[in-house]
Amino acid sequence: MFKITVLPGDGVGPEVIAGALRVLEAVRKRTGAKFELREAPFGGSAYDQTGTPLPEETLRLCLDSDAVLLGAVGGPKWDSLPVQQRPEAGALLPLRKKLEVFANIRPSTVFPSLADASTLKREVVEGLDLVVVRELTGGLYFGEKRREELPGGGCRVVETLEYTTGEIERVARVAFELARRRRGKLTSVDKANVLESSRLWREVVSGLAAQYPDVELNHMLVDNCAMQLVRNPKQFDVLLTENMFGDILSDQASQLTGSIGMLPSASLGGRVGLYEPIHGSAPDIAGRDVANPIASILSAAMMLRYSLRMDEAAGLVERAVNDVLQEGYRTADIMQPGMHRVGTAEMASLIAERI
Ligand code: IPM
Ligand code: MG
Repeated sequence: MFKITVLPGDGVGPEVIAGALRVLEAVRKRTGAKFELREAPFGGSAYDQTGTPLPEETLRLCLDSDAVLLGAVGGPKWDSLPVQQRPEAGALLPLRKKLEVFANIRPSTVFPSLADASTLKREVVEGLDLVVVRELTGGLYFGEKRREELPGGGCRVVETLEYTTGEIERVARVAFELARRRRGKLTSVDKANVLESSRLWREVVSGLAAQYPDVELNHMLVDNCAMQLVRNPKQFDVLLTENMFGDILSDQASQLTGSIGMLPSASLGGRVGLYEPIHGSAPDIAGRDVANPIASILSAAMMLRYSLRMDEAAGLVERAVNDVLQEGYRTADIMQPGMHRVGTAEMASLIAERI
């Protein structure tokens, strides 16, 4: 019996998670695997219900799970709350920290039938298959922050970017190991021409290279990397980044696949893995059955693979997604002329039926 804590969250979170659960139900029927699903309040909706975005009981359930499946958090309704009660700083970041999931894996794969859905030319993105490994529990996101009023008016803010050798080394190892099982190319992204943290990053990553002679390592400055991602993204296999660079570059990489609604993620490194689509809560389209559930369904596939060691089941889900796209079904974000437009729930049902 696998214990899975499900955190639907806010905005489109509950809709896309419902899609992922429909697919997991199909996996259960097909494989006989036993899932104990425990849904818990998290994010803005948890704040509304309980007065805190990360209730203690939710955290306890997460820590006592085989995996956590998360929708999305945040929305304008909670934007003016004090920082510690906001869904992002008060729930998502502490959850990542408490689960110690320091390595965030964000694959960007172009499904063959979606090669024309990207805003980039087909020849630039066709066959693209890269993975961003983003450090997830350090850097600017977690450094000390302060805001002071200045005597003459206005403010002064301080944000701190901190990394230790150990924090860089452990996430770099994840990236080297992943590159070794893929095409053997690792690009480490930094801003070593300006930032001291990046100089340490580069030193530590370079220092590990000797232990992975089968991996070809290169270093790239983050601004150049942003440009190369739209110029020639197929040069990349595995990209390794610190927390904030990875946040930005993974959104950019997602658009190469046609839509941010396609990109799943796995956050690993602790005892319990955390799985979430990379998109946010998209409050503008929430509750309208238009969000793309595929990122969330593919996150469930990553959960099957990495936390539950159900490789075959993960493959089944990924193939079902591919089949449905091949048959011409599209949500609004990946709609193309001549295809059948479907809503969130129908897309999930179509995928579940093919498992
Ligand atoms: C992501 C999101 C989060 C992040 C936000 C919601 C805090 O953008 O998972 O990429 O910045 O990590
Ligand atoms: Mg982001």
